[in-house]
Amino acid sequence: MSVPAEPYRPLFHFTARRNWINDPNGLVWFDGEYHLFFQYNPFGSTWGHMSWGHAVSPDLTTWTELAVAIPEDDRDMIFSGSVVVDHRDTGGFSKGGAPALVAVYTGDRQGEVKHQTQNLAYSHDRGRTWSKYAANPVLDIGQANFRDPKVFWHAPTARWVMIVALSDQEKISLYASPDLKAWSHLSDFGPAGGVGTLWECPDLFALPVEGEPGAEKWMLKVDLFKGGIGGGSSAQYFVGDFDGTRFTPDTDANGADLWDWADHGHDFYAAITWSNLPESDGRRLWIGWMSNHAYAANTPTSPWRGSMTVARALGLARRGGTWVLAQNPVENLRVLRGAALAATDIARTPLVFSPDARPVGLEITAVIGLGDAARCGLALTWSSGDAVLLGLDRARGGVFVDRARSGLMTGEAGFADPRAARVADLATRVVNLHVLLDAASIEVFADDGTGVITEQIFPRGGLDSVSWFDAGGTGMIKDLAVWPLQ
Ligand code: FRU
Repeated sequence: MSVPAEPYRPLFHFTARRNWINDPNGLVWFDGEYHLFFQYNPFGSTWGHMSWGHAVSPDLTTWTELAVAIPEDDRDMIFSGSVVVDHRDTGGFSKGGAPALVAVYTGDRQGEVKHQTQNLAYSHDRGRTWSKYAANPVLDIGQANFRDPKVFWHAPTARWVMIVALSDQEKISLYASPDLKAWSHLSDFGPAGGVGTLWECPDLFALPVEGEPGAEKWMLKVDLFKGGIGGGSSAQYFVGDFDGTRFTPDTDANGADLWDWADHGHDFYAAITWSNLPESDGRRLWIGWMSNHAYAANTPTSPWRGSMTVARALGLARRGGTWVLAQNPVENLRVLRGAALAATDIARTPLVFSPDARPVGLEITAVIGLGDAARCGLALTWSSGDAVLLGLDRARGGVFVDRARSGLMTGEAGFADPRAARVADLATRVVNLHVLLDAASIEVFADDGTGVITEQIFPRGGLDSVSWFDAGGTGMIKDLAVWPLQ
């Protein structure tokens, strides 16, 4: 419970020891390790010299940063992409009978003509060292904005499928390959849903439908660089079907594509899912960059800048006439819990931390209801007077997080506007909340993870109290549990 030496250094969210990071890249499970590669500037704390940094974790909770995996070269910066394990040795990169890890990344060439291509690198030593494929690039269609390949093995057609963004056309393209080297175009999707700037970092995967054994749907996730939530960068998803060639989104009764933002906060971008999880695992997991291109360069941290969200398990539920994505923090994060704080009747008595026992990280679970209130929820306050509010809001029709008075950065454009996620039948039932607070962020998972809000915060001073508030009537809270995290 001591104050960390570097203000805002997270307790349990991944940051690089030093320097700038953005997108997670190449998420893959292999041989007992979860790999997290990421967009990294080895030389400074602003965007540039993009290379793949690297970290590994045995449990998605504690991360060990390793040496830069794929550095920029004379020709290209190494932009976002994915990693697959080539169990069938389709690409011929295996060595000594062990499958190779193969990275598929975008090479970004800034010459007289800006130019983006898809390229391969391979590793024989559990991702520690990488060789770039001598015949790169493997896919070049002469485009300036053609990036972020996510590759997966499609068993029914026994081939690799790549989803990649034609960013400035706000389309994704699908390609297929027998060997990761020769790619043929399958189809395009878009523009659709959230548009207006650039599409980036797509992913495409199947999810089982909650409560419907055997049923699955395909989810296409693609991010909007600017003009999403609060005017900044945001992740959107479509739910539909993929026949091995084409993605077809489900539509509403009027024929409009069903889509939504994946996370209703300001700070969730560029998420991709882990590949090669053991089939017995059964989870679909992703992690996102916990920042926003609108202000990422200005966050007041040093000597690092940028962090990831917690790893989240994904689900898909049918609610009313539509699909909702559910995201919940991976269960293993529970190992971070310290002794539960004594339960108080928080509606009457705030939980106040003494100055020598102020937790940096906190986990809260609660069940709350609006009752006849207009708004109700929890207020977190810091010794400086900075505060964050979270809870339910009748007028907004759901769960909300308000960081308008949370400390530094609140003057940045778009930063202070409260964020809300819709909750069905809000007025007539109670809603569960799962809150993860770290030194510079708050993630709120409401209503079984179907309403998620991720926000960076830069409060001044130490965490002072958690209290209940309601306005315009009396709200209700029950089953409150609070743990300091360590
Ligand atoms: C998304 C993004 C990607 C690109 C990478 C470059 O944040 O713009 O489209 O590959 O970052 O760092």
